[in-house]
Amino acid sequence: AGRSLLVTAGPTFEAIDPVRGITNHSSGKMGFAIARAAAEAGATVTLVAGPVHLPTPRGVRRIDVQSARQMLDAVLPLAATHGIFVATAAVADWRPSTSTEQKIKKDGSGQAPTLTLTENPDILATVARLPEVVRPWCVGFAAESHDLVRHAREKLQRKNVPLVVGNLGPATFGRDDNTLLLVDAEGERELPTGDKLRLARALVAEIAQRMAAGA
Ligand code: C5P
Repeated sequence: AGRSLLVTAGPTFEAIDPVRGITNHSSGKMGFAIARAAAEAGATVTLVAGPVHLPTPRGVRRIDVQSARQMLDAVLPLAATHGIFVATAAVADWRPSTSTEQKIKKDGSGQAPTLTLTENPDILATVARLPEVVRPWCVGFAAESHDLVRHAREKLQRKNVPLVVGNLGPATFGRDDNTLLLVDAEGERELPTGDKLRLARALVAEIAQRMAAGA
């Protein structure tokens, strides 16, 4: 209660042309559940959402974006005014280097166009590198298909964040339940399988404890 929390959620959509793009199977459910749980706990919550089909949780301010660059542009000015940043979005790692204004047409030659990709900015790492006075307390997510602990711990160090929440991507994308593994400098703690709202409430309680302890 009394804290402010900024959340990213959902996939991003990286346009190839006006009708096509690159995206992923993230539903946004975990991030929306965290936004709801934090608002219920009394926090002021801003949710930056990629393209998802979910209603805005009550009392939450929502900003809709499409691409990773739009998500970064929305997040950066807000980071300094929020005490906590939770990055659940499955941001596309790459975007097409060029996006055409007109639909790319088959020309009958049988030749497929070649897509050249450019790496997207890392939103979480960018926020985690902000000067300490304006940097929110950052929570990252790790959606992995295997070796969850190793990958989550590696992300903790590489992105320089105090808490990484691991989950198995293919097992949870689009589903209502999940299992979370909290990884921090102290060790690991599993939040056992449950629906995403219950897990979100448990995660918000964990974050609140760390805030109260002056983390
Ligand atoms: O590097 P990786 O995508 O595995 O890291 C996942 C974490 O980093 C998540 O918290 C995700 O929201 C965040 N992330 C981000 N911007 C990116 C890539 C990942 O904020 N471009």
